[in-house]
Amino acid sequence: MPILCHSNEIAEGKSKGFQIKETFLFAVKKNDAIYVYENTCPHLGIQLEWQPDQFLDIDGSMIQCSSHGALFRIEDGECLLGPCQGQSLIALDFTLVNGQIEITL
Ligand code: FES
Repeated sequence: MPILCHSNEIAEGKSKGFQIKETFLFAVKKNDAIYVYENTCPHLGIQLEWQPDQFLDIDGSMIQCSSHGALFRIEDGECLLGPCQGQSLIALDFTLVNGQIEITL
């Protein structure tokens, strides 16, 4: 299974982008928990970030799409505000193996 990185490489309250083959994805660490999603906005199917590894809003409380500002809950990827309200990011299953984030694509 592909390894994204060690969970220690993502700072608390921050996000990090990855590419595995053709798939773009990102991980967020919040309250020491890791969440992994496909880097695709449900609104137009494009990538979310405005700068490398910047997937969160200014205070780090929500995932934000840089194109039209959709806001997604970090814990489950649901869009709470914006043009795709009610839709969700695609969560990816992963396991932590000695702290390494291993995903199942
Ligand atoms: S593409 Fe993400 S909000 Fe429009």
